[in-house]
Amino acid sequence: MNNNELKEIDLEYIWHPCTQMKDHETLPMIPIKKAYGVYLEDFEGNKYIDGISSWWVNIFGHTNSYINKKVKEQLDTLEHVILAGFTHEQIIKLSKRLVELTPKNLDKCFYADNGSSAIEVALKMSFHTHKNSNKKKDLFVSLTNSYHGETLGALSVGDVELYKETYKPLLIKNIQTPVPKDKSKEEAIKAAKEFEKLCEEKHNEISALILEPLVQGAGSMHMYHPHFLKLVSITCKKYDIHLIADEVMVGFGRTGKLFACEHANISPDFLVLSKGLTGGYLPLSVVLTSNEIYSKFYCDYNEHKAFLHSHSYTGNALACAAANATLDIFEKENIIEKNKELSEYISKKLQKFKNLKNVTNIRQTGMIGAFDIKGYKPQDRIGLKVYLHGLKNGVFIRPLGNVIYFMPPYVITKKELDKLFDTVYEAVENL
Ligand SMILES: Cc1ncc(COP(=O)(O)O)c(C=O)c1O
Repeated sequence: MNNNELKEIDLEYIWHPCTQMKDHETLPMIPIKKAYGVYLEDFEGNKYIDGISSWWVNIFGHTNSYINKKVKEQLDTLEHVILAGFTHEQIIKLSKRLVELTPKNLDKCFYADNGSSAIEVALKMSFHTHKNSNKKKDLFVSLTNSYHGETLGALSVGDVELYKETYKPLLIKNIQTPVPKDKSKEEAIKAAKEFEKLCEEKHNEISALILEPLVQGAGSMHMYHPHFLKLVSITCKKYDIHLIADEVMVGFGRTGKLFACEHANISPDFLVLSKGLTGGYLPLSVVLTSNEIYSKFYCDYNEHKAFLHSHSYTGNALACAAANATLDIFEKENIIEKNKELSEYISKKLQKFKNLKNVTNIRQTGMIGAFDIKGYKPQDRIGLKVYLHGLKNGVFIRPLGNVIYFMPPYVITKKELDKLFDTVYEAVENL
């Protein structure tokens, strides 16, 4: 099939995610033939720098030779086996490593196969833990502007109107507490006080507080100070409210530490991981929790306290092999240190945008950089213009409305960062 046939047949048969399909009457659909390192290559030989790590999943580049090798080895050994009653070497190895690498008191791993499903697991487990202790706590608190995925439970605890509004009649009980307004410590303290007030009033009902540590991704790459995590973690403990840390996006080195919770030295009751877990290769997610919570479900069968949640592909062996290979790379190549240098370079590149009159709110946390474009209405779809300029010039980014952000794979070079940032600069300068 040639490029045009692929595009045509695609649009005849596929309903793409997060897309108004009518847009494709004018917007190009881009069939990708192959990918390597930070590059995506289409069927006409055009190369695009993957400036957002293919929806924030890819950390060590596409078709990484080491991860490829490990997945291929696994493919010839065991592709998948049911995880109820059976287990396998890759998942055992992976679970032990995750427990060792994550903050203390996270002792058990429960697997699912995408970020949203893992959020569902954490929400259900929290509610069920209280229930098994004879407490009825059925209210979830999340931060304003948060995003935790799009299955109904995950959508309930999100706060991005664009995704949530339509489905409001279907959602579970939730309320929001303010996210700190900016990266200052003062705003962190102010927001934490609001949460404390809410808990004084409603702690008997609240099952858990769920949050994205440090950076709210789909909520416009909003960033806040780690002190907020410290303070709310203390409040949660005081009122017997679980803390669910959704590190689906920020986990695995994005923020400058392996896990974002480390910036505040906190141990959540549930830590949710996905995306970078397999290096961006295969769908896998995991919820880590404490032995204390695990013990609330551990009893004789007839007491009916077991956590009966399952997905067919839970703990898939190929995905676990990719995850172990990903952790090998972290271990062998001192990635967190190396990323510091890249983050500093990103910071330099971001500063240049200060020269542009239509740019505001430049911000960065580790390997995530962002800014807002001001002076346009949403219907101007200004982000789309920047996206299209990028495509024409060999760069792929996917703005969130008027928010332009960069989240490249960690294998990007300074020269490739130059190309990524300079192309976007050109686009914004010429709007
Ligand atoms: C913080 C966060 N939580 C959960 C999710 C949902 O993950 P998935 O898209 O794999 O369902 C996302 C996805 O972007 C996310 O950014």
